[in-house]
Amino acid sequence: MSITKKPVAKKPGEATSKKTAQPLSSVRGMRDILPADQHYWRKAFEAAQNICDSYRFDRIETPILEETPLFVRGVGKQTDIVEKEMYSFETSGGDKVTMRPENTAAICRSYIQHGMLNLPQPVKLWYWGSMFRHERPQSGRYREFWQFGCEMLGDDDAVVDAQLALLAWKYMQSLGLDTVVHINSIGTPESRLNYRNALVAYFRPKRNRMSEDDKKRLLKNPLRLLDSKDPVIMEMKMEAPQIVDWLDESSKNHFMHVLEYLDEVGVPYQLDPFLVRGLDYYTRTVFELYEATDDQNQHQNALGGGGRYDGLIEILGGKETPAAGFSIGIDRVVSLLKNRETTPPPAEEIDVFVAQLGESGRKRALALFEELRTSGFKVAESFSKSSIKTQMDNANRMGAKWTIIIGQKEVLDGTVIIRDMDAGTQEIVDAQKMAQELKKKMIQKSAESIS
Ligand code: HAM
Repeated sequence: MSITKKPVAKKPGEATSKKTAQPLSSVRGMRDILPADQHYWRKAFEAAQNICDSYRFDRIETPILEETPLFVRGVGKQTDIVEKEMYSFETSGGDKVTMRPENTAAICRSYIQHGMLNLPQPVKLWYWGSMFRHERPQSGRYREFWQFGCEMLGDDDAVVDAQLALLAWKYMQSLGLDTVVHINSIGTPESRLNYRNALVAYFRPKRNRMSEDDKKRLLKNPLRLLDSKDPVIMEMKMEAPQIVDWLDESSKNHFMHVLEYLDEVGVPYQLDPFLVRGLDYYTRTVFELYEATDDQNQHQNALGGGGRYDGLIEILGGKETPAAGFSIGIDRVVSLLKNRETTPPPAEEIDVFVAQLGESGRKRALALFEELRTSGFKVAESFSKSSIKTQMDNANRMGAKWTIIIGQKEVLDGTVIIRDMDAGTQEIVDAQKMAQELKKKMIQKSAESIS
């Protein structure tokens, strides 16, 4: 008798073959910072923390989402950031919010909201966090990027501007990065108005050689033409009027003092008459940091930027309060750190690996691991593996100096085996004295390595 299989009728809607789900990627311009890179990020963070502690800055964290008007008013309606780069949306509750494109406006919001005006001035704050700008991604430019920043609020003295530029430069130095501070003064809004007119008068006759975008800038925000990367504008601006010639007396004096202070502390700077920065809140000093290089023609991304913003707190609804600050682009700093270190950093050294055999051994091993970890040892394990060979291979791969082995017998006897991984010798010790024994062995080993 032959059995012939009848074809099974498909139910309506049933798929013919199992579909595999399409893998997803991170959003364009945003990326994962993988474990292999964490060494550099940690270095950049610890350097920021150390320098801020020594300059007596207090850490502040503000939310990633802020009300949209904070940036429209703070950064400026006609800036590239507000016009085209903000991640803004309306919440289901109808609130208009924006993922912070920068943090200075938010720090000022916080200063006002928490009455920091009543604290001794200047209030010195630092922050570390990611910012979001919908820019065209390219080398060194991301849509989510990280900034370390410092703000000094409540003081208009030139020494504050100089100390901030010094701090930013010292931060780079502490990471082994040689930088130069490009610096300029853009005066007060009033003196800038006269300069703006002079600039329009200079560029207007040349407008038919400009791109549509630059024509718009000429109309709305002519100072932005000065940091255009378009070669036509770069050539045109060589003869353009310079803002320093339009500064009011008090801004000129302020700027002179900033430069004198920088000379005093030996911060290398370069006067840049066309540095205006892309945010509207600046008054007087503006600066940017670039890697020091002999190649003048090499296009570089700024590693950081900042300046004075004496009108911002008032624009945001606070009392008239002078302030200044800077932010460093950490993605760019990390990229330089990585380029410099050609060999990957060595893996962290492991003191003890805890290996286990059988279910009772594994249970005990969990507790031994905790005991060793809390006694200050660098401990590792592969608790999910039952093969002792795999565990010993892992201990070797991690470079563990000793392995603790615990099986059913040792659990019953109240002992552990300590294996010296270099010598290949083993000894049985009382489980109660394990940490003490290991400490002794560590001291002995380090004495041997010195002699
Ligand atoms: P900013 O010049 O817009 O200033 O940004 C500061 C730094 O952040 C830049 O110099 C750059 O290193 C980094 N950065 C900016 N955009 C990107 C991006 N798309 N991808 C990677 N890195 C980027 C500010 O944000 C002001 N809040 C600085 C400040 C603080 N002014 C006074 N206080």
